[in-house]
Amino acid sequence: MDSPRFPKETVLITGGSGYFGFRLGCALHQKGVHVILFDICSPAQAIPEGIKFVQGDIRRFCEVEAAFQDAEVACVFHVASYGMSGREQLKPKLIKEVNVDGTDNIIRACQQRGVPRLVYTSTFNVIFGGQVIKNGDESLPYLPLHLYPDHYSRTKMIAEKNVLEANGSALEQGKGILRTCALRPAGIYGPGEQRHFPRIVSYLEKGLFKFVYGDPESLVEFIHVDNLVHAHILAALALKADKGYVASGQPYFVSDGKPVNNFEFFRPLVEGLGYTFPSIRLPLALIFYFAILTELTHFILGRLYNFQPFLTRTEVYKTGVTHYFSLEKAKKELGYEAQPYDLQEMVEWFRAHGHGKNSEHEGLRYLLWDGLLVLLLVMSLLTWLSSAGLSV
Ligand SMILES: *[C@@H]1O[C@H](CO)[C@@H](O)[C@H](O)[C@H]1NC(C)=O
Repeated sequence: MDSPRFPKETVLITGGSGYFGFRLGCALHQKGVHVILFDICSPAQAIPEGIKFVQGDIRRFCEVEAAFQDAEVACVFHVASYGMSGREQLKPKLIKEVNVDGTDNIIRACQQRGVPRLVYTSTFNVIFGGQVIKNGDESLPYLPLHLYPDHYSRTKMIAEKNVLEANGSALEQGKGILRTCALRPAGIYGPGEQRHFPRIVSYLEKGLFKFVYGDPESLVEFIHVDNLVHAHILAALALKADKGYVASGQPYFVSDGKPVNNFEFFRPLVEGLGYTFPSIRLPLALIFYFAILTELTHFILGRLYNFQPFLTRTEVYKTGVTHYFSLEKAKKELGYEAQPYDLQEMVEWFRAHGHGKNSEHEGLRYLLWDGLLVLLLVMSLLTWLSSAGLSV
């Protein structure tokens, strides 16, 4: 009864086992849409009755083709990607294969299978490479390839460009044309998020969250998972005739629309879990050198032991350099309105999963971590001082 605008269509979601893809699938399923989830591994949660899951590797065209099964797919949401954070960031070959080649496979499959609409989940990072951006809009150009600070951002840009260029291309067997658009979300949060928040909470528990860095006035943005779900549903509708195909060939920035200091954003989580918010603030440049050292260490030792890098340059940019974008285009063309959310539900989620100060996670065993951290910080301070001395 919910949405008469989806008359039993079938949609395919790549990355359908991931946090966002799965949530999108469930939301569409509740609207009465037939959903096929496609991913390399099965979802962590139980798949609701009626949602189809197809296991496969986006890098293999035959597996992508097989995901469509016999269904007449009306829209593909291409969410799958690789290399956004943690140790994944340092695997350039795999990142390129999944993000660029995988996306080309999706475009080709849409054309062959006569899928008229393709919505690509892009990222802020296709435009942002560490430069200050205040209220930027979609007229901002992509960066030159060599200015992307990491493989993820660069490959997401190439993929987004390919998707948008495929707009207007012919579908096979005279089935009309393909229309595409791209959403560029801010950092995603929401209950059950598995990528960034558990890492942040583990740093809290290890006592590693002892300082913040950068200018307290620096502003970044986030987007609640359900706002992003909403934006995707609107984007798919805006590729249809009754919306005048308004989104075809277009990128859109999407966020909660509330620029905030990165660390202040996390304050309710830190304090809600019973930890003290750090009062030490370090200069951004120092942390940047620390990140370079981390990446270097990983480059040297990563072959032996692929540890989780503590912080990379891209992460320093994303957390410490002002960049936020206007929602005007998404509002005007998609009808996007961000709903208000806060971190309280995440505090409850982590508490319900045994986290929080009273759960005796503290202890001597983290002394080692503290020692290592201090050592690395001292090393970056030295590098920073010596290179500052050299370059000035
Ligand atoms: C996308 O393709 C449609 C159909 O060919 C076309 O009308 C529209 O102008 C294209 N969008 C862009 C941004 O080129």
